[in-house]
Amino acid sequence: MKALYFDRFGGPEVLQYGTLPDPKLADHDVLVKMAYIGLNFADIYRRKGTYHIEKSTPYIDGYEGLGMIIAVGKKVTKHRLGEKVFFVDVPFANSELVAVPESHAIKVPAELNDKIIACVGLQGLTADFLAHDLGKNRPNQTVFIHGISGGVGQILSQILTADGVNVYGVTSTREKQKVALTQGAKEVFLRNEPWLHDWLERFDTVYDGVGVTLEQSIELLKHKGNLVFYGMAGGNPPKVDLVTLLSQSKSILTGDLWDYLTDYWERIARSKRLFSYFINHQIHISEPTVFPLKDGVLAHKLLESGNNVGKILLKP
Ligand SMILES: NC(=O)c1ccc[n+]([C@@H]2O[C@H](COP(=O)([O-])OP(=O)(O)OC[C@H]3O[C@@H](n4cnc5c(N)ncnc54)[C@H](OP(=O)(O)O)[C@@H]3O)[C@@H](O)[C@H]2O)c1
Repeated sequence: MKALYFDRFGGPEVLQYGTLPDPKLADHDVLVKMAYIGLNFADIYRRKGTYHIEKSTPYIDGYEGLGMIIAVGKKVTKHRLGEKVFFVDVPFANSELVAVPESHAIKVPAELNDKIIACVGLQGLTADFLAHDLGKNRPNQTVFIHGISGGVGQILSQILTADGVNVYGVTSTREKQKVALTQGAKEVFLRNEPWLHDWLERFDTVYDGVGVTLEQSIELLKHKGNLVFYGMAGGNPPKVDLVTLLSQSKSILTGDLWDYLTDYWERIARSKRLFSYFINHQIHISEPTVFPLKDGVLAHKLLESGNNVGKILLKP
């Protein structure tokens, strides 16, 4: 099969495209012929060597995608040949064929199209657990989202808006600001304009997947508010002074999606909850940018540049 892989850590230039052996199918695996593969920040962290990865040389990057089951292991009971499935937590996904444990494969709902599901699997399930397991906001509460027009940010903003929460955020360009406003945000600030001063201590919850913005996030919180810290798209966060937090009764919550996708039924229930927002037309996402898998280097460069709006997909 063709795959995108690397055999040393580094910049996008370490990625190679070529032929590798097909994956071996274990008894509880299904073999998926990939139609779309989602690119995520974690793929960049893995390529750079700053994230935990499975031992395998060369290493095939990628963790999420959508495709058709073309073979099933001897003990598979949950899926059938020819079924369309997606997954968000299976390694070695940057290839034509992926061996997916049956408990990690989620059947694609008939109501939604493949490209949308490929776009929203991992980022959507992330937004869902950030909103419903960590933030747990009530209607009429007021929240702030850093990177509101990113992949997770767009879905998170719309889930919270549909839940009756007042959403505010910040982004880098007028184009991205417009996207966030049409998705229901009350106000969206531009990063290079002064806005922070007027909004100090105004928010019940601040969602921060940018990292370098952590101090701002703490300043934006009301006393007794929660900071949901979930990533560092902009760089590592500064150290936090717990005594300052304590004196203002502010708390920091963190979470990794992997700790919430613990079994098959958890994956099914969480994707059902996520897809209900799409089926009820409460979430609209920007058109993805699709690269052929062989152009993975360009896709990584675009994601790292921060110039893309929404999801980047790879197509074998
Ligand atoms: N905890 C988890 O389980 C989990 C799961 C998935 C993803 N994540 C994390 O979620 C974050 C977002 O991922 P994504 O897939 O949505 O990526 P994305 O679509 O590329 O969005 C990243 C956002 O970060 C913003 N950003 C980048 N550099 C910045 C800087 N220096 N200052 C301020 N903002 C900056 C960008 O804002 P602009 O668009 O305004 O430029 C962009 O909207 C990443 O940190 C990722 O690792 C966490």
